[in-house]
Amino acid sequence: MKKLLFFAALAIFVVACGGPESGTDSESSETTASTTPAAPPPAAAPDGEKIYKTNCIACHGLYGDMGASGAFNLQESELTVDQRVEVITNGRNAMAAWGSLLKPEEIKAVAEYTMTLGKDQ
Ligand code: HEC
Repeated sequence: MKKLLFFAALAIFVVACGGPESGTDSESSETTASTTPAAPPPAAAPDGEKIYKTNCIACHGLYGDMGASGAFNLQESELTVDQRVEVITNGRNAMAAWGSLLKPEEIKAVAEYTMTLGKDQ
C-alpha cells in the first residue's frame, strides 16, 4: 500500500513537474509577447501628417498655404526633403526650430509629409 502511494506521489510529482515546465515555456513566450507590443511604437514610422497637424498648421495651415507669420507656402516650396529637414530642425527666421521638440525621425516624417502638400489640392 505504501508502495502504491509512493507511485501515486511519483505520478503526481511527474505531472506537477511537467506542468510548470510547459508553464515556464509559455511564460517565456509570454515575456517575448509582452515585450513585442512595447517594441513597435519606437520602431514604427512616425506619422508625419499627425505631427504636421499638431505642430505646423498654426502657421502653415492645414494645406501648407496659410502663410501666418510670413510662413512659407509649403505647396510651392521647392526645397528637397533634406533641405526641409534642415529648416525644420534648425529653424529659419520666423520659422521655429523643432530640433529639440521632435525626434529626427519625426522631423523626417513631417518633412516628407510636407512634400505631399499641394500635390492633391
Ligand atoms: C511660428 C510659425 C511657424 C510654425 C509653427 C511652423 N513654421 Fe515652418 N515656416 C515659418 C516661417 C515664417 C517660414 C519662412 C522662414 C523664412 O522666412 O526663412 C517657414 C518655413 C518653412 C519651411 C521652408 C519652406 C521653403 O520653401 O523655404 C518648411 C519646410 C517649413 N516651414 C516646415 C514646417 C513644419 C514641418 C512645421 C511643423 C513642424 C513648421 N514649419 C512650423 C513659420 C512656421
